[in-house]
Amino acid sequence: MTETALQGAPTRNTKLLAWVQEMVDLCKPDKVHWCDGSQEEYDQLCGDLVKGGTFIKLNEAKRPNSYYCRSDPRDVARVEGRTYICSVNKNEAGPTNNWRDPMEMRETLVSLFDGCMRGRTMYIIPFSMGPLGSHISHIGVEISDSAYVAVNMRIMTRMGQGALDVLGDDGHFVPCLHSVGQPLQPGQKDVPWPCNPENTYIVHFPEERQIWSFGSGYGGNALLGKKCFALRIASVMARDEGWLAEHMLIVGVEDPHGEKTYVGAAFPSACGKTNFAMLVPPKGFEGWKIWTVGDDIAWIKPGGDGKLYAINPESGFFGVAPGTSDDTNPNAMLSMTKNSIFTNVALTDDGDVWWEGMTKEKPAHLIDWKGNDWTPASTTPAAHPNARFTAPAGQCPTIDPEWENPKGVPIAAFLFGGRMSQNMPLVYQAFNWSHGVYSAATMGSEATAAAEGQAAMRRDPMAMLPFCGYNMADYFTHWLNVGRKIPNPPRIFRVNWFRKDENGKFMWPGFGQNMRVLKWIVDRVHGRSFAVESPIGWMPRHEDLPWDGMEFAPDTFYQLMTVDRDAGTLEAHAHEELFDRFFDRLPKEFVYERELLRSRLWRSPQIWELARER
Ligand code: OXD
Ligand code: MN
Repeated sequence: MTETALQGAPTRNTKLLAWVQEMVDLCKPDKVHWCDGSQEEYDQLCGDLVKGGTFIKLNEAKRPNSYYCRSDPRDVARVEGRTYICSVNKNEAGPTNNWRDPMEMRETLVSLFDGCMRGRTMYIIPFSMGPLGSHISHIGVEISDSAYVAVNMRIMTRMGQGALDVLGDDGHFVPCLHSVGQPLQPGQKDVPWPCNPENTYIVHFPEERQIWSFGSGYGGNALLGKKCFALRIASVMARDEGWLAEHMLIVGVEDPHGEKTYVGAAFPSACGKTNFAMLVPPKGFEGWKIWTVGDDIAWIKPGGDGKLYAINPESGFFGVAPGTSDDTNPNAMLSMTKNSIFTNVALTDDGDVWWEGMTKEKPAHLIDWKGNDWTPASTTPAAHPNARFTAPAGQCPTIDPEWENPKGVPIAAFLFGGRMSQNMPLVYQAFNWSHGVYSAATMGSEATAAAEGQAAMRRDPMAMLPFCGYNMADYFTHWLNVGRKIPNPPRIFRVNWFRKDENGKFMWPGFGQNMRVLKWIVDRVHGRSFAVESPIGWMPRHEDLPWDGMEFAPDTFYQLMTVDRDAGTLEAHAHEELFDRFFDRLPKEFVYERELLRSRLWRSPQIWELARER
């Protein structure tokens, strides 16, 4: 194996060659395949997956070059309970991460990985997170025994020889080791979705910048460029190097005069980031355009001109399928018309895909995500709630012409929004950077399907709770410092599309109508729109939002914007529960911000009182 692994290797990077050799010796695969990232290779691997029963080729006339896949029903989402940050010191991981001693964890992993690829092929998957050669991008190499991972990585990253060329002979890369954890004995037949749910470990060594993932083949557990590298490891790199690695979409908002303003927006998983990233301006916004740079992750570095510049480190969308339709997100639907992979959705009788919410009328017959017959009378969903599509970003009709600009795009505002059914208004602007960081850090959100075993409502600072690779108190300090070091930091806003009325009905229509809020935000950034000072931040009055093409009564608006004093005070009090967990590591600014918030809640007039005064 020694000779075959490295023979004809398409790189002379000594660190990479040494690591591959070490992993071959440990994992003992039958074969080694260096991925070149070509179309031929992709087609070949997909063909092999079809032969092995993992993939079903979709109807070529309906969805060219696309594949359907069902996971093992025990392997359907990120497993936060099995995700570890193994820093040398427990306090470096902080109270919100699972910590294990790195030496002990390494021992556990080495025994799990020993021989774990027997009977399988080891794929060496070099990739660039971000445009090839950009100073904001970084290189990773994933070693995986899953061809499903290799083909998804080709969509999600710049994968193959181009990344090796950037790496060169002595460049640095983040090593990402992955195994489905199910070796094959001689003659043993493989299953369509091998995995090892009893022994799943998603492990990060932040000091060594290394990732080891065992037992799961699904999404963020297995496509290691995404959450593991681009967020957990990159957040540590960003702290050390003075930049930001964030769970954010990036959009460019173009007004009818052609002026484009870029914003980054952080929402927890499955809260509509992809929809917002591809927003279609509603009636009344003729001449406005929303351009998509990214839908999930942003890497943001200070430029020489004092601005923050962002890239999308990914090159594809790994979006939640259920709920996506021509009505809710036509651009996502168009992005996945070809060259896409669908996991855990339902299969139609004519060889296409379907999921809940895709069409008003349900098909009369489907094969569901578990492979069973399904009809509208069935009591279980046809698609798993965390079913996904993997689609090339370049196929999105609204992809920003600048999305691959190696310089990145200049960010003018940050938006933060949880899923809050009560007490959180539609929008407010933070008074300043420090107040904005406080507002983002105290964000709460109700559970979604993207992660297993998640509490009904939890604090999710900056939507990074499951993704920050170090102590979140230090992460808050890092955010405060980033804003301090630039002359005119982006403005910070909180938004909430999910408030419900006393009958449990959403009060705000969301989707394209969020454009109204976005326009107010962009105008605030440019000093062109009005706001009143409320206890929690700057807020628009009814007349400050554009209502062309939509009826929304002032009374309903103020109901949506209201912050009840008692509820607000309870909320400020609840922030302490989060903060207490960090002890004295919490930035002092936060204690100060909380006291200011409390006193404003009782002293300042509420939004409707202010609106009436004017
Ligand atoms: C995702 C997530 O898959 O946040 O993007 O879970
Ligand atoms: Mn995400």
